[in-house]
Amino acid sequence: MTNLAIAANQLRKSYGEKVVLDGVDLAVPEGTIFSLLGPNGAGKTTAVQILSTLIAADPASGSISVGGHDLATDPQAVRAAIGVTGQFSAVDGLITGEENMLLMADLHHLSRGEGRRIAAGLLERFDLVEAAKKPASTYSGGMKRRLDIAMTLVGSPRIIFLDEPTTGLDPRSRHNMWQIIRELVADGVTVFLTTQYLDEADELADRIAVLNDGRIVAEGTAEELKRQVPGGHVRLRFDDPMAYERTAVTLRDVVRDDPALSLQVPTDGTQRELGEIIQRLNAAGIEADSLTVHTPDLDDVFFALTGGARVPHQPKEAVR
Ligand SMILES: Nc1ncnc2c1ncn2[C@@H]1O[C@H](COP(=O)(O)OP(=O)(O)OP(=O)(O)O)[C@@H](O)[C@H]1O
Ligand SMILES: [Mg+2]
Repeated sequence: MTNLAIAANQLRKSYGEKVVLDGVDLAVPEGTIFSLLGPNGAGKTTAVQILSTLIAADPASGSISVGGHDLATDPQAVRAAIGVTGQFSAVDGLITGEENMLLMADLHHLSRGEGRRIAAGLLERFDLVEAAKKPASTYSGGMKRRLDIAMTLVGSPRIIFLDEPTTGLDPRSRHNMWQIIRELVADGVTVFLTTQYLDEADELADRIAVLNDGRIVAEGTAEELKRQVPGGHVRLRFDDPMAYERTAVTLRDVVRDDPALSLQVPTDGTQRELGEIIQRLNAAGIEADSLTVHTPDLDDVFFALTGGARVPHQPKEAVR
């Protein structure tokens, strides 16, 4: 039986009349990446703030433990076990990257020598050696984000909360950040990650919970979540409007995209169903100019669960 790094029962939080978290259960095994996925205002940051002792949960909540310590009775022990990189940077722009790191070392009561050693190691690891002596205000967004996470690691936390660590980063910086997160987990660290990016959760997380309006509306591995939604289809595209029309009549149960001359045919993606579609096309003497199979992805899950609708003819790359 694996130990849980984070266990929360019926986590609740309201601000006045506004219910932000409405009974959220969480169970994150040690050494895994857990992703809390949700749109703006879902309650992700609020959950991180509570689990990292920055704000208190409502008294109506059940028990919450982080790193094996009870959040209500032993917040000090929780703080010693965790690191938090908030949604908005904790970097002080007026001092250099190195000074930011040394400040963290002081906060963790490391000796001068130990602080310098750890800061130097982390600056190296996060590719910030060259920038270390420059004021952090001169850093790019990606560099600030890296420094932010490096600062979080100064205390060698066993559990790390990352609140939207890659928002605003370019694709290359995002991939670098993913690599850093993977390395942390390889070292046995538990990562609690919030994100609005489905591909990020898909890429990194062992388990994903989808938070919407303060409730978890789905939970599981990326594969498990994808299986829950219908979203698979075959897309047939035509150059010839006549062939397009004829196919729409032949197959009947299709979603039309007239401007693009393309048709979506719902399918579970099995060989049997695909074969059937192709057989019907062959029998009618129809040849599509392109045929692509779309299997449901986390975008489909997300839009299905959080009530949004996908525009049928929009390729998913454009939605992300
Ligand atoms: N201190 C506060 N007082 C009142 N309402 C608050 C407070 N903090 C958060 N809220 C509300 O709680 C809800 C959830 O906010 P939260 O910041 O947790 O969302 P989020 O999922 O992190 O969103 P985002 O993706 O935009 O970061 C929002 O409606 C927000 O307005
Ligand atoms: Mg947030």
